[in-house]
Amino acid sequence: MAPRKLAAGNWKMNGDLAALAEIDALVAAHPTPGCDVLICPPAVLIHPMKARIGRAAIAVGGQDCHARTSGAHTGDIAAAQLRDAGATHVILGHSERRADHGETDAAVAAKAAAAHAAGLVAIICVGETEAQRDAGRTLTVIAAQLDGSIPEGATASNTVIAYEPVWAIGTGRTPTGDQIAEVHALMRERLTGKVADAAGVRLLYGGSVKPGNAAEIFAIPHVDGALVGGASLKAVDFGPIIAAL
Ligand code: G3P
Repeated sequence: MAPRKLAAGNWKMNGDLAALAEIDALVAAHPTPGCDVLICPPAVLIHPMKARIGRAAIAVGGQDCHARTSGAHTGDIAAAQLRDAGATHVILGHSERRADHGETDAAVAAKAAAAHAAGLVAIICVGETEAQRDAGRTLTVIAAQLDGSIPEGATASNTVIAYEPVWAIGTGRTPTGDQIAEVHALMRERLTGKVADAAGVRLLYGGSVKPGNAAEIFAIPHVDGALVGGASLKAVDFGPIIAAL
C-alpha cells in the first residue's frame, strides 16, 4: 500500500512566540483527508506550539537531537526531551547541520537510533551539492548517504527519508520531475532489504517547494510528501501546499 502523504514544515531558526499565530489558520483548515501534517519549529517553540495546536491532528517535531540520552553536552537536546516537550518526529542530517556542524553519516545514524529509542520518527535528510550533480555523482552520493545514515532497526513506522538537493534549498530552483523521480526510485530500491517494509517508508522531497509547484512535485512517483522550509512559515503558503497533497 502506498504510504500516507506527509506535509512537513521545517521552520529552521525562524519564528517566535508571536509567530505561533500562524498555527491557528492551519488548525482551522486541517485535517486534509489522507495526509499528515507536521511542523518542526525551533526547539524552544515545540511545547507552546503543541499547546496551541491542542487536539488538532497536526504533529510537532524537532530539528536535531543528540545521540546520547543525557549528560554533559551543553546546548544539545536529547531525543527523549523532545518527546517530553510534545514532539513526535525529529529532522536529522539536514544539509545545514551537515555543513554547519560537520555531521557525518555515522553521526546521523547514531542520532536516528537515539530518536527511535525515544519513540520518535526520524526524518533522515540526504541530498547532493550542485558540484556533485554536475560531476554526475548524484545517485552515488545519495546511495552512500542512505547506507551510512540509516540505523539498524529502521522501519516504515519510525523512519522517513527526505531528499533535499542542497542547491535547491532556499534558492527557488528545483530539479526537473525526471531528476526527482530518478532519485526517489533509487531511494526506494536502496531501502529494500535495509528497512523493514521499504515500500511503506515515506519519501519526501524538499527544496523550494511552493504553492505553485507542490501539486506537480507530489504527482512524481515515489514522492510521498514534502519537507518545506520557507513556505512553511506562513499559513497562507503552507496551507495550499498541504491541500495539494
Ligand atoms: O528542510 C527544508 C528545506 O531545507 C527546504 O527549504 O526554504 O527551500 O523550502 P526551502
